[in-house]
Amino acid sequence: MRPLQLASVLLAAAALVAARELKQEEGHLWAVLIAGSAGYGNYRHQADVAHAYQVLRRGGIKDDRIIVLMYDDVAHSESNPHPGQLFNAPGGPDVYAGIQIDYSHASVTAETFLAVLAGNASGVPPPSRHSSGRVLTAGPQDKVFVYYSDHGAPGILGMPSGPFLYADQLHAVLTQRSKQNGFKEMVIYIEACESGSIFEGLLEDKLGIYATTAANGRESSWGTYCPGMSPAPPSEFGTCLGDLYSVAWMENADQADLTLETLKKQFQLVKQRVSQNYTYSMGSHVMRFGTLGIAEEVAAEFMGYGNTGAKKQAAATNGAAPSWAPQGALPQRDADLAHLWHKFASAPEGPAKAAALSQLSAETSARSRVDAAVRASVQRLLDRTNVLALLRAKFGGQLPLLAANGAAANGAVAELLVGEELPRPEGAALVDDWDCLRGMVAAWEASCGPLDQYGMRHTRAFANLCNLGLAPAALAANSCGGPAVGAGSKLMGPDAHIAAA
Ligand SMILES: *[C@@H]1O[C@H](CO)[C@@H](O)[C@H](O)[C@H]1NC(C)=O
Ligand SMILES: *[C@@H]1O[C@H](CO)[C@@H](O)[C@H](O)[C@H]1NC(C)=O
Repeated sequence: MRPLQLASVLLAAAALVAARELKQEEGHLWAVLIAGSAGYGNYRHQADVAHAYQVLRRGGIKDDRIIVLMYDDVAHSESNPHPGQLFNAPGGPDVYAGIQIDYSHASVTAETFLAVLAGNASGVPPPSRHSSGRVLTAGPQDKVFVYYSDHGAPGILGMPSGPFLYADQLHAVLTQRSKQNGFKEMVIYIEACESGSIFEGLLEDKLGIYATTAANGRESSWGTYCPGMSPAPPSEFGTCLGDLYSVAWMENADQADLTLETLKKQFQLVKQRVSQNYTYSMGSHVMRFGTLGIAEEVAAEFMGYGNTGAKKQAAATNGAAPSWAPQGALPQRDADLAHLWHKFASAPEGPAKAAALSQLSAETSARSRVDAAVRASVQRLLDRTNVLALLRAKFGGQLPLLAANGAAANGAVAELLVGEELPRPEGAALVDDWDCLRGMVAAWEASCGPLDQYGMRHTRAFANLCNLGLAPAALAANSCGGPAVGAGSKLMGPDAHIAAA
């Protein structure tokens, strides 16, 4: 290359760098981070969010543009062997250090989260010890990064207090903010079981929002750095320190130069790691939705230009793995049991072990009870009403098991309704009628008690019932305490909605 050529290449490169930095200075970078759970057994979700906070602060985002929602009961839990600290990887740094939490304890609800995103200051709890009252007040030049970590289920995300967050509610607020020019672009990362169902068939590509999820709409997401894994947390923790998708993107952010790495590249590396090098021997399918063109931008545009990989050594953790390395992981719902199991296994013989055992067996039997109750309700619906006729009318040809008759067929159909997804049009959302899904959950909870972070998985069955055209009243009449429905109401015909008994 001749000197003149070289000079002009260098000049062009300098202009590119200047342009990129100027572009950032036109607007600001904002972030909303939320952990949706509480309790020491869910240590990993608050550790994930605290780690994300450190990534963004290192990136250069100011505290007054980061809004953190976290129940904040883990760092100071009496179960925490390192009071006042949280770790997101074995041997990693304390990620709780210096965190500024805006909403804690009972202020962390779906309502608060939606009001924060909506920029609605009258929709959040008034300022108090557990509420800063701050909301997202980004403008049309600003970019926003949103990250959520917790338990999810088809169509919903968990919250430590109050009702679940439903996908349609999130979508309504995002659409409204996009139309009001409440941001230039937004990137959303979600760690949760069935998290693909939060965006599938809902997030349009014209809103300026790019989202990735830990899992597709039909599978668990995975916890990692759990007791007994390699690398394991030191035994005193007795719980998982992180989640697979979450540590994959954050350890990438700790180590890579995000001023050069695109969001697309990050997505690919995360997908590779979460799928165990695409073997899916463990882990889940990382998904992307929305305005995919945003992923051509460098990750620093959303995580801050301070993330240059220069602090690689300082941020390095024993756990940081290359994107392809197989890594121990547990489905989220088993990760909760792992904590209880470890507590039992590590307790000294005597009353402590007996107490741990009874906690573990209380949890496993509560799980069996809710599974059995949902199955029994669906079975009652099949026995007493026109559900089978509705199924045959809608899906007869697609589902061979509907051709069979008799009690055995009924049992198999109940399994199908509880455990699987009825056929949906390609790319369709979980349900067409979200009010129906909310109604089903309300009907169930009114008669059977609250759905906990395990029981919430049964929104899959409730969604199936909605998609068959059943009303929540039908579930209410056949759930735990519902009045008996007369046998005469069987087979009312494919078009009949089941009325309240
Ligand atoms: C803000 O939140 C309050 C309280 O939930 C609600 O009544 C009001 O309609 C919201 N405002 C907007 C603009 O959404
Ligand atoms: C990961 O998969 C690629 C092919 O997709 C293969 O070439 C590579 O060896 C694998 N790496 C490991 C560590 O398994």
